[in-house]
Amino acid sequence: MKLLVTGGAGFIGSNFVRHVLSKYPDDSILTLDKLTYAGNPANLAGLAGEARHTFVKGDICDAALVREVARGVDAVVNFAAESHVDRSILDPDAFLRTGVHGVYTLLEAVRALEIARLLHISTDEVYGSIAEGSAAEDAPLAPTSPYSAAKAAGDLLALAYVHTHKTPVVITRSSNNFGPYQYPEKVIPLFVTNALDGEPLPLYGDGRNVRDWLYVLDNCEAIDLVLRQGRDGEVYNIGGGHEVENVAVTRDILRLTGKPETLIRPVKDRPGHDRRYSVDTTKIRALGWTPRHRFTDALAATVDWYKRNEAWWRPLKSGQFQAYYRQQYAHR
Ligand code: NAD
Ligand code: DAU
Repeated sequence: MKLLVTGGAGFIGSNFVRHVLSKYPDDSILTLDKLTYAGNPANLAGLAGEARHTFVKGDICDAALVREVARGVDAVVNFAAESHVDRSILDPDAFLRTGVHGVYTLLEAVRALEIARLLHISTDEVYGSIAEGSAAEDAPLAPTSPYSAAKAAGDLLALAYVHTHKTPVVITRSSNNFGPYQYPEKVIPLFVTNALDGEPLPLYGDGRNVRDWLYVLDNCEAIDLVLRQGRDGEVYNIGGGHEVENVAVTRDILRLTGKPETLIRPVKDRPGHDRRYSVDTTKIRALGWTPRHRFTDALAATVDWYKRNEAWWRPLKSGQFQAYYRQQYAHR
């Protein structure tokens, strides 16, 4: 298979590119990525010299470029998005541009070039906060942040193309990922790297919001399965089946880094903070997927990765990040 992977220099995208190239010797990938603050060539550094991988810097909103790089591919996998909820509260502009107009640009290219498949990567956040039970794929969309509203808009546009133009789209909606190469603004890498430096861990609100943690390599396997065996027009939820309160994950991180619980700093809550996400994963499991990694082992491996890869994360936490961190946390 020849793939166009958009957003492949980000966290999940780069793990997916590595997964595909190591599992399928006959596959090749062209990665298109704008290299925003979250996109990082170092995430793909291990692929230097790999003839089956090509990198192009560019924007998924650039219709001419997208058509140029998409010509001749068997499928497009779209990871490109602004992905951090807190930043969408500070400034939603890029979220809407990439999340809506970018998806529109990809849909038009897939239609015009008659590409056999567009796999669009979405999120469990489109269902909104789930008080009880779990959201199946046909649950109503009820996004509550500018980030999740932009993602829901992208999903709806993609499904409208399925309905109107029979565009061959499949969508995955996964829960919270963690693992290597995650930008250290997200809670697990932020807390791990803060703990390693003996810095406070800013826990929002009462710390009892629930997220369902999914190891990124398990997500890559699920995405790969949907890419090759999913049905056109269908949505597939992907969840780790490990729902825990944030305070429990925080304590796990402190235990794994050997740091005291006095580092926990309760801070003012995120505006509109969704209490709990939970997806029903019956459909992807029926396709033959199940998460292979236990949360505790995967979290220990992740902490170990950040310990060993200080040269990767330390530059990311300096400069521009410091300004963001002050703006985001100083007043809390
Ligand atoms: P990330 O922020 O680490 O990576 C996003 C990548 O997209 C970056 O490399 C960035 O440079 C690129 N990008 C942004 N705008 C672009 C544009 N206009 N054109 C081309 N490239 C652009 O994000 P991630 O955590 O890897 O998430 C990837 C996808 O998965 C996103 O669509 C996100 O909504 C979704 N998702 C993430 C999670 C999670 O827990 N991280 C869970 C569910 C769904
Ligand atoms: O559910 C899937 C989503 O998971 C993805 O679609 C998003 O792209 C991804 O960023 C993630 O969103 P969250 O908002 O759940 O992730 P984040 O790591 O920002 O926060 C996880 C939880 O931790 C959330 O309840 C807020 C809390 N938190 C977060 C930060 C950054 C804190 O308590 N303190 C913090 O400093």
